[in-house]
Amino acid sequence: MDVFSPFKIKNLIFKNRFIRSATHDWMGNEDGTISDRQLALYKELARGEIGFIISGHSCVEFPRGRAGIRQNRIDDDRFIDGYKKLADVIHEARSLFAIQISHAGLQTNTNFTNGVEPIDHNTIDANDIGVLVDAFTRAAVRVRLSGADAVCVHMAHGYFLCRTLFSDSNKREDEYGRSIVNRSKIALGIIDSIRKAVGLDFPIFVKLNSTGGGDKHIEIEELVAVSTLLEEHGVDLIEISGGVVGSKDNPIDRLNIIRIEDEGYFLERARVVRKNVGTPLSVVGGIRSLSLMNEIIKSNIADFVSLSRPFIREPDLVLRLKNGQEKASCISCSKCRNFDGIMCVFNK
Ligand SMILES: Cc1cc2nc3c(=O)[nH]c(=O)nc-3n(C[C@H](O)[C@H](O)[C@H](O)COP(=O)(O)O)c2cc1C
Ligand code: SF4
Repeated sequence: MDVFSPFKIKNLIFKNRFIRSATHDWMGNEDGTISDRQLALYKELARGEIGFIISGHSCVEFPRGRAGIRQNRIDDDRFIDGYKKLADVIHEARSLFAIQISHAGLQTNTNFTNGVEPIDHNTIDANDIGVLVDAFTRAAVRVRLSGADAVCVHMAHGYFLCRTLFSDSNKREDEYGRSIVNRSKIALGIIDSIRKAVGLDFPIFVKLNSTGGGDKHIEIEELVAVSTLLEEHGVDLIEISGGVVGSKDNPIDRLNIIRIEDEGYFLERARVVRKNVGTPLSVVGGIRSLSLMNEIIKSNIADFVSLSRPFIREPDLVLRLKNGQEKASCISCSKCRNFDGIMCVFNK
């Protein structure tokens, strides 16, 4: 068994263990719909034989939940058609596809929210929590209607749900704070509501922060407790990530991953989750070498490996690795974060 072996979750057969982790591309149309540029990008990724492709995060509530410019939206039925086209180009190349749904929470600013004040996870009231549960649920139903194979709920990188979960960012004193069970209530309420709406057979995936909701790393026990609750609530795959967007001390996309010792910077956290939780797992963060990818699968640390930046430089990376290349060429400089559309600086 290695990274090229198939895997099954519910009725989905993954042709290999590669996941293109969610990657916002700044290529969406200004109105939040899917652009022709995005159709071309995803076609290229799928032709590169990535088993499972997760879209960039799509916002479930507009304008309050928007995280950035040219972000795709899924807060209305009119966005389904674009995602249908995206699902089609990916399925034509026989890859699987999920849409990541997210709410920015505090991790945005009024330039992106058309002047509307962002919501604060620490002060939001029960009424607003209900609005958000509804927004995530309707978005997940649209994911299913678009023909995608799964929905991926964003609980990482300091966005709204991530900050509700962990003790370093959730400072509430009410029924949504103080204990791990209370802090998980909003996220689990959303998972339960989505499950009810999309049915038992439709896979629900979660991208989960392993480091907490802020700049400092939380204790590993907290991560295990949240993962256990996600398992109990029927989540089908947990993708272990970490960090907070824009954080110097705890970045999501660490720089200069050149030596194999620096690769897989959330692996140790994934390893502990694996020991305690039965849900299928993936892990993201600086995974570059084929030998490490195979080691992750063979030693059962995770069932999948997720990559983001390497597929910007080499959309055909899976084929290259199959044909003898030993590692991704990406040097993890993150200079591909280009507001006119992601692009590797070496591919100009
Ligand atoms: C340009 C760019 C956009 C990203 N957009 C998202 C996103 O929409 N959702 C998400 O969960 N993570 C996003 N990420 C984080 C990646 O999915 C991944 O977790 C991180 O880059 C570490 O993996 P890597 O070392 O393989 O790049 C983004 C990263 C980059 C570089
Ligand atoms: S610019 Fe290119 S080499 Fe640098 S992180 Fe992005 S894809 Fe990798």
